Amino acid sequence: MKKLLTTAIVLAIFYVSHAIAGGDDTETLVRQDWAFEGMTGTFDREDLQHGFQVYKEVCAACHGIKRIRFRELSSLGYNEDEIKAIAAGYEVKVGPDDMGEMYDRAARPSDAFPPPYANDKAARAANNGALPPDLSLISKARVGGADYLYSLLTGYGGEVPAGQEVSEGLYYNPWFPGHQIAMVPPLQEGIVTYSDGSSPSIAEMAKAVTTFLAWAAEPEMETRKQSGIEALIYLAVFSLLMYLVMRQVWSRVEK
Ligand code: HEC
Repeated sequence: MKKLLTTAIVLAIFYVSHAIAGGDDTETLVRQDWAFEGMTGTFDREDLQHGFQVYKEVCAACHGIKRIRFRELSSLGYNEDEIKAIAAGYEVKVGPDDMGEMYDRAARPSDAFPPPYANDKAARAANNGALPPDLSLISKARVGGADYLYSLLTGYGGEVPAGQEVSEGLYYNPWFPGHQIAMVPPLQEGIVTYSDGSSPSIAEMAKAVTTFLAWAAEPEMETRKQSGIEALIYLAVFSLLMYLVMRQVWSRVEK
């Protein structure tokens, strides 16, 4: 009994200290209630489509999403014809042709999103030496995930604290490591107009594009959660059956 108590106390201390220490980095992030979090969370289709529009019209100038294929946009709620039309708006480099040359053609649903720059050097040359990362997995690749992306995108424009250096060509952003980032503030009021004619605020665009990027990093999330729940139901029914079988078998043993 004493041993059990000691173990429980040690475990409790471990969890509390872990929660405090682990929370340090992300505790101060601007937290949002994301519809896709939790065991049964799903992506909000409207946010996904709006987020894709923000990505396409703003972020895609500098950032690729090379792991996403156009046909995967069907999970955002687009039908086949809409996807064909979206893909046709992009050019992909393919080949070589019979003469050994690479050539451009309009993208098809089976193609992946083409990158905005030919290579990393071209990307750096166009961005003051900084490399805009591919965003396919970014929401998984940063501590804080969606909350970090949202905080970063809405974190420009604050007053620079005394003692904080901001070099030329960089922008103050309290959420970026080092607090100065080479990305120009990408979201501005009026930069995007949604199909219903509304003009979203910076916070609304940040929320939508973050939802889109969370989807991009894990397009199979909804199916994964669905099968998880199915497996739990299956196991519960199975356990009940096994319990009844056990009762039946042991009922023949005299007590
Ligand atoms: C004009 C080019 C440009 C546009 C447009 C742009 N970015 Fe960036 N972005 C950059 C550059 C350059 C960096 C690298 C910054 C650095 O390393 O200091 C970057 C970095 C990032 C990062 C990585 C931050 C980190 O923790 O490493 C994220 C996330 C990001 N951008 C998201 C976006 C989103 C979302 C949009 C659209 C709303 C967008 N960017 C639009 C140029 C751009």
